Amino acid sequence: MPSKVYVTRKLPEEIETRLAEHFEVRSWDHEDQPVPREKLLEEIKDVDGIFCMITENIDAEVLDAGKDLKVVANMAVGHNNIDVEAANSRGITVTNTPDVLTETTADLTFALLMAAARRLVETSDILHRGEWGAWSPMQFTGQDVSRATIGIIGLGRIGETVVKRAQGFDMNVLYYSRTRKREKETELGITYRDLETLLQDADFVVLLLPYHSESHHLIGQRELALMKRSAVLINSSRGGIVDEDALYEALVNEEIWAAGLDVFEQEPVPVDHPLLTLSNVTTLPHIGSASVETRLAMAHLVTDNLIHVLDGKEALTPVY
Ligand code: DGY
Repeated sequence: MPSKVYVTRKLPEEIETRLAEHFEVRSWDHEDQPVPREKLLEEIKDVDGIFCMITENIDAEVLDAGKDLKVVANMAVGHNNIDVEAANSRGITVTNTPDVLTETTADLTFALLMAAARRLVETSDILHRGEWGAWSPMQFTGQDVSRATIGIIGLGRIGETVVKRAQGFDMNVLYYSRTRKREKETELGITYRDLETLLQDADFVVLLLPYHSESHHLIGQRELALMKRSAVLINSSRGGIVDEDALYEALVNEEIWAAGLDVFEQEPVPVDHPLLTLSNVTTLPHIGSASVETRLAMAHLVTDNLIHVLDGKEALTPVY
């Protein structure tokens, strides 16, 4: 008898075909809507594995409802939507999708940095509204990226890959992470700073760290006040790392110059969210890993993890 797997979203055909070759599959067949909680609790009752997204909150209640559950395979590198400790304590393996999305997410992070620095979205909107006006010396001026100082908070795989992008623009690279990585300093030619000094010295502060209780609102009023008035804050990790009310105040009061946000505390971000009313905030709908190739690679890796674990083998990319 094939193992049973529940898939929480409509997937591309090539992934559905692969899953069907190995498992008895049931799916929530919608592309843009997460599976309702009640439905998830019902569907999980008799399955061995779940193929889930960051939109599903896989907490103790879900894990307990899944009496036969052996593996929770998340289609994301971040796994703050899963209570990993609760899963592991129940003998359930949790997997994520590292590596396959590193370059794509680093590209997007750098694109967002450049867009925020040079006001790409704001000025394109002005053009479309017919408000361009005559060319003038200081019209639409932004911040230089080349030779500026970038401060990367969180030096994981994506952080390291952003370093390479930044060095291509002759940027001076500072980093902060909970554990200092001296060997990376020599290897990559980057400089460690404690959090406060990094915030004071960087022209661009880029958040690339995982979200958990200790990184919740890591960037709040105090931290924003330390930043330069000309600084740009970029967040492509998780919305909860930034106190959005404090960020709004800092931007309105011109304590910092601009922000580029790919992530929000609540997603989809409500269209009447105060941050969306500001012209110096560049916003994107959580598209860090969204290239065709990368999203397919992520889905294949989720599938491989399910196959491995449900075949009684070690997961390829487990999280603990
Ligand atoms: C991740 O992988 O954690 C991203 O945020 C989702 O693409």
